[in-house]
Amino acid sequence: MRNGGIMNEPGVHDPENVRSLFDEMAKTYGYVHLFSSLGFAYFWRKACARQIPRESLQVLDVMSGSGECVTHLIPWLGAATKIQMVDFSASMCAAAQRNLNRWKNPNVEVLNGDALSLPFRDDGFDAVTSTFGLKTLSMDQLAQFARELYRVVRPGGVVSLLEFSIPDRPYLIPFFRFYVKHYVPFLGRIFLGNPDNYRMLWKYTVGFGDCSTAMPAFRAAGFKLELRRYFFGSATHLVGWK
Ligand SMILES: C[S@@+](CC[C@H](N)C(=O)[O-])C[C@H]1O[C@@H](n2cnc3c(N)ncnc32)[C@H](O)[C@@H]1O
Repeated sequence: MRNGGIMNEPGVHDPENVRSLFDEMAKTYGYVHLFSSLGFAYFWRKACARQIPRESLQVLDVMSGSGECVTHLIPWLGAATKIQMVDFSASMCAAAQRNLNRWKNPNVEVLNGDALSLPFRDDGFDAVTSTFGLKTLSMDQLAQFARELYRVVRPGGVVSLLEFSIPDRPYLIPFFRFYVKHYVPFLGRIFLGNPDNYRMLWKYTVGFGDCSTAMPAFRAAGFKLELRRYFFGSATHLVGWK
């Protein structure tokens, strides 16, 4: 099922292409994601956020989209924690900024920046989260991302990373394929998005496989790792300690 070939397909991981894909999807992404995940992603993101120790004072959510993970971090961590969000899509950042106005939490900040070259000092964060962004990175980009996270997290700090994955039970794969390849683009059409953009998410998911793909990069960067699987491997959660 896993088609590692996509990881090397020309242009697919080109930052300009990925950015414009998410710029285009920004208006519909929240709705499509909500309906497409049938509620599962809500609980998976919550699990990802709850991996962060509550006493953390500086937290980064990277590839933050319009703040889908931050909505879980805010109630978990409380108003004393400074949360910084980074995404390279200006439209996603604009959507996050609108959510920020709604959350009315002055300790949350949205930054338009690159996950592979983070605009932060070394050892500055107690923890980092990232949900559903890993799949768009190539192997080289994953290695760079892992090094960047290792650089910005303080010793003893934690990274909590979540991604959709190819289920580990073969009998579930046809359902999963139908779901991501047809149902998600169908929702994209209903919400006036471009179904081809949502089909692209399927390609990234197949190419990525699951979070074990990212483990060598994060281990090489220096993290101690633990991999968790949710709902027969439909999502995987990588937790790393520096
Ligand atoms: C699938 S969305 C995930 C959004 C959100 N975290 C969630 O839980 O739904 C992936 C996000 O990663 C961002 N992204 C991808 N590569 C990036 C990079 N190199 N630097 C910053 N953001 C990036 C995209 O713009 C997009 O908003």
